[in-house]
Amino acid sequence: MSKARQSWGSKIGIILAVAGSAVGLGNFLRFPVQAAQNGGGAFMIPYFISFLLLGIPLMWIEWTLGRFGGGFEHGTGPGIFHSMWKKNRFIKYFGVIGIFGPIVIFIYYTYIESWLLGYTFFSLTGKYSSVTTPDAMKSFLSGYQGLVKNEYFGGLKTAYAFFLLTFIVNITVVYYGIKGGIEKLSKIAMPVLLFCGILLALRVLTLGTPDAAKPDWNLKNGLGFLWNPDFTKLLSGKVWMAAAGQIFFTLSVGIGVILTYASYLKKQDDVVLSGLTAATTNEFAEVILGGSIVIPAAFIFFGPENIIPIAQSGSFNLGFITMPLIFGKIPFGIIFATLWFLLLFLAGITSSVSLAQPAVAFLEDEFNLSRKEAVGVFAVVCFVLCQPAIFFLGQGVVDELDFWGGTFCLVLFGTIEAILFSWVFGIDKAWDEMHIGADIKIPKFYKFVIKYITPLFLILILGFWFVQEGVPVILMKNVSAENINFVVLTRIMLAGLFLLIAFLVKITWNRKREVNR
Ligand code: ALA
Repeated sequence: MSKARQSWGSKIGIILAVAGSAVGLGNFLRFPVQAAQNGGGAFMIPYFISFLLLGIPLMWIEWTLGRFGGGFEHGTGPGIFHSMWKKNRFIKYFGVIGIFGPIVIFIYYTYIESWLLGYTFFSLTGKYSSVTTPDAMKSFLSGYQGLVKNEYFGGLKTAYAFFLLTFIVNITVVYYGIKGGIEKLSKIAMPVLLFCGILLALRVLTLGTPDAAKPDWNLKNGLGFLWNPDFTKLLSGKVWMAAAGQIFFTLSVGIGVILTYASYLKKQDDVVLSGLTAATTNEFAEVILGGSIVIPAAFIFFGPENIIPIAQSGSFNLGFITMPLIFGKIPFGIIFATLWFLLLFLAGITSSVSLAQPAVAFLEDEFNLSRKEAVGVFAVVCFVLCQPAIFFLGQGVVDELDFWGGTFCLVLFGTIEAILFSWVFGIDKAWDEMHIGADIKIPKFYKFVIKYITPLFLILILGFWFVQEGVPVILMKNVSAENINFVVLTRIMLAGLFLLIAFLVKITWNRKREVNR
């Protein structure tokens, strides 16, 4: 290796970058819907248990493994896993998941992020201000997405323009590097995002009872709908799985991005307190802010009869249909609507740049490409891969990408990491490695948790989840006949991408062997 690897400029920089990767649409849209559907306040019991036994340990594992791999000039799964288990020839191929998964998420996440930029613009310019019914707002969204042509949009042109802009901004940030791009963005975007979140939460918490004729449609009942515990739900395995899944998604663990971010740390940099700080920042944004905005607001404006169908209609409907309608009904609605979409856009972009970095780091570290070359290759490949998500959104392509990238790979990769960490690397060595330069000491019982509980919990989740959700999806049970071909083609594309990365791993390791001979 000839060039020096990049590094973070400050401790707060990497903490904000990891928190930025974690705080995303999951915090403000996915979390409240999951909580409302799975027992309200009672959901918080499996949620916090998963946070303590799964989320925090995986955070620490990824920070530690990333910093360890960085010491060998490896910033991604293949090199990091190989450094941990040199004798095993195959382990590096498991590491491919940590590059493949983030690319797969990136290709649809960036597109959704671009809708947020579009909606920020529409909020400011009042483009949907005359749209006042749920059906019309739905039609506005479908028109924007190019699913139908209507009075609002004549096709995909506007959405495509915002996508191009979003894509270029992402690539530019990554091009400017860890310190000059990602760290700078996080230092600006995270405080702005938290500020917008706090303002919006305060606005909702001071809504009171806007309609005197409907005294039950008030804040207290809105918060009660989300938080009143239904303990009977705790008997359902599905609720526990939903909680564990939410923890994975929201903390961005098991994706591979934290490994890469942590690989730019120095050997003596703390990982314990930093990992914990990033995780708790995410929880503040999720539970306190995420739990105070969409569901209570929807309850106050649409009432107890409508809140259940609204909560069940999914995160996108809440974000893009319900919220704009609510902002249309409050004073200074334009400002709050703009803050809402800006908040989500910033939450999105700090996550998407983190999804781009593993592939870029792989090309830089393992192929010795310059940053410019690595970002160039990444941009061209991803731009091509994004097209099916844009043009075939209505044919189930994004759902398919989300299943493999955003659900399956996460849990699988997290399980592999946890087992490698405690059982291959060895928990004693791993524990010492974790504590190098640590600002705090982890309580001793976590050694037991990380060695036994976390891997076991993960294997159980993977098994249950695979049977309950994985098998029906793999067999395309829920795909309509007209979409089957699109789903199959998406799978072929994904298999091709995975094999391409695995092939790149093979050739670069062969070359290294030749050089070392
Ligand atoms: N962790 C990111 C989110 O919550 C992906 O959206």
